[in-house]
Amino acid sequence: MPTNTAAWLGAKQAKLEVKPAPYTSPREDEIVIKNHAVAINPVDWLKQVLGNVMFSWITYPFVLGSDLAGEVVEVGSAVTRFNVGDRVLGHAVGMDKKRNSPAEGAFQAYTVVLAHMAAPIPRTLSYENAAVLPLALSTAACGLFQKDHLALHYPSATPTPTGQTLLVWGGSTSVGSNAIQLAVAAGYEVITTSSPRNFDYVKKLGASQTLDYNSTTVVKDVIEAFKGKTIAGALAIGSGSAEACLDIVHACNGAKFVSTATSPVSFDNGMTAGVVLQLVSSNVSLRVKSRRRGIRTKFIFGTTLKNNEVSKVIYEDFLPQALADGRYVAAPDPYVIGTGLEYVQAGLDAQRKGVSAKKVVVSL
Ligand SMILES: NC(=O)c1ccc[n+]([C@@H]2O[C@H](COP(=O)([O-])OP(=O)(O)OC[C@H]3O[C@@H](n4cnc5c(N)ncnc54)[C@H](OP(=O)(O)O)[C@@H]3O)[C@@H](O)[C@H]2O)c1
Repeated sequence: MPTNTAAWLGAKQAKLEVKPAPYTSPREDEIVIKNHAVAINPVDWLKQVLGNVMFSWITYPFVLGSDLAGEVVEVGSAVTRFNVGDRVLGHAVGMDKKRNSPAEGAFQAYTVVLAHMAAPIPRTLSYENAAVLPLALSTAACGLFQKDHLALHYPSATPTPTGQTLLVWGGSTSVGSNAIQLAVAAGYEVITTSSPRNFDYVKKLGASQTLDYNSTTVVKDVIEAFKGKTIAGALAIGSGSAEACLDIVHACNGAKFVSTATSPVSFDNGMTAGVVLQLVSSNVSLRVKSRRRGIRTKFIFGTTLKNNEVSKVIYEDFLPQALADGRYVAAPDPYVIGTGLEYVQAGLDAQRKGVSAKKVVVSL
């Protein structure tokens, strides 16, 4: 049995510590992956900083992390899509309430992954590049394709133009980079927002227009860009995005739905009484505003696709061939902060400081 090591979150708000970990064999619908690269998401440092306010079911010690790429070393008895030795990426769902399992966290040498949340990757794609995808891809897919969210047409190799335009607010985020590509592959035009330094980046991913979210006139500018178009709804990513998207969807013709990835308040400096108050009042204000205008809004939980057909659509039907054909790119580029689990804490700190069209990655 292989010897496992993990970057453990040993206690509430503790720094990660690299220590031995049990090796866990897969159940029938799971695979075990030897990780060669893991990527950091905001949720990783948010859980560390906020303690038990978030994912309160998690007990310590725990292994965080959603994004990994590596090599299959063991395959559950009911799994037919993978063999030992396959190069794959996987969305590790250990933090999800129903899984709640340190064996399923990404920040360790060997992770147990649900087979239907993994995809083979082409030889041409490095593990560091592949690791940027899973949680951001899943989150974008939940918002765009789940029936309880925007319920868009599914992506394919030969999309039929829908004649509709999607708003992706925050196109240069990791989630936005995936949302743009998925929506274009599903036959939608995409209008997005980013800082001017990332205008070319989001256009290369397939956006037809991008507007600067820092501008004081951005909401008016986006509404202008949608003149004569039918909106397919909006995916709101980044702070302040939900409010802005509500105003835009209200002013446009088409679907009255805003799928939101980001909480209306920032937790960057922890959870103070002021932040709690702000959170309650922002949520109430958003709810009142959307009800009055007849717009539905829903918050995304980026693991919910594991319970519905969207996981198969993405990880089995669409992504493997799209990556192999070069129709889908692993974006944003990785920013490799170091090699070894010892660098995961530095990775969390770097992601918290902020990145621009980059994903913090640790090589293993
Ligand atoms: N609900 C879920 O399940 C789920 C899952 C994953 C992520 N998320 C959330 O989704 C958001 C994005 O996560 P990520 O990992 O994709 O982020 P990320 O890649 O770390 O985001 C960095 C990017 O954010 C952009 N940005 C900063 N403030 C913005 C704003 N107010 N509006 C639009 N863009 C802004 C910056 O764009 P420029 O450099 O162009 O200025 C930068 O490129 C976070 O709030 C995260 O917590 C939610």
